[in-house]
Amino acid sequence: MSKVTVVGAGNVGATCANVLVINEVADQIVMLDVKEGVSEGKALDMTQTAALLGFDSTIVGCTNDYAQTADSDVVVITSGIPRKPGMTREELIGVNAGIVKSVAENILKYSPNTIIVVVSNPMDTMTYLALKATGLPKNKIIGMGGALDSARFKCYLSKAMNANPTEIEGMVIGGHGDTTMIPLTRFASYKGRPVSDVLGKEELAKVVADTMVGGATLTGLLGTSAWYAPGAAAAYLVESIIHNQKKIIPCCVSLEGEYGQNDICIGVPCVIGKNGLEEIIDYKLNEEEMALFTKSAAAVRSTNDVLKEINVL
Ligand code: LAC
Repeated sequence: MSKVTVVGAGNVGATCANVLVINEVADQIVMLDVKEGVSEGKALDMTQTAALLGFDSTIVGCTNDYAQTADSDVVVITSGIPRKPGMTREELIGVNAGIVKSVAENILKYSPNTIIVVVSNPMDTMTYLALKATGLPKNKIIGMGGALDSARFKCYLSKAMNANPTEIEGMVIGGHGDTTMIPLTRFASYKGRPVSDVLGKEELAKVVADTMVGGATLTGLLGTSAWYAPGAAAAYLVESIIHNQKKIIPCCVSLEGEYGQNDICIGVPCVIGKNGLEEIIDYKLNEEEMALFTKSAAAVRSTNDVLKEINVL
């Protein structure tokens, strides 16, 4: 029996859980949320859609009762506050670091062998924190930013090319920040054809710019951060783990020399399967791409340094 826990039943957590349930990714889904009744209510609401949508997965909510999360194969952490218009993801660190650390510790008590998918922002730093706070091996701590940013990249590419997004390949690596993410246009393709054969330089530059502020644009429209694509991106990662799909997904993982970096969690192309991170793929970046990656890593590292300043690490 497969079991997935989603911590945080806010917009992102509940959307992720809903996608997991509807797609029957796991047999059992458990949702937690510190707000009394919210996870129970949303779980019951989703359960009442079974007769309409026809799924066999079960979903329960249990407020803060971590005992019910026992023996989860995967735990998705979405806890914390979302950003408001004009805020960066990095500004959330003061509140979210303490929350993510305590959630990760509670999860480990009941699921010592679980794989953790980190969604909370600032996502790269929260992934690093989860790795350090749990002491789990690096294959078991995966941040989901790259899956989301790549979906947004493919969305904007598909609009620019008037093409089906599922026929587009594209990856965003680096940090999950408005200025740190790196949409890799050179590796993007449409049915095997490089996108640079289809789009001009200016069109591609616009796709890159739109992708980088994809989240900020939504925060401006919604007054809070997005949830459909973030929730679906987390569920996409969970599915590749639970069903051992071995998809190549850009994920935030701990680097030990790969891409010239150490002691950092940041987005790189990964094979994601039943063991979580199964392999980091070494894309041969050119000088310009490598320079962007190095700069992105420096920015992520300076946010990581705040963890020590606020005594969370
Ligand atoms: C976003 C948030 C969830 O990019 O980081 O929408």
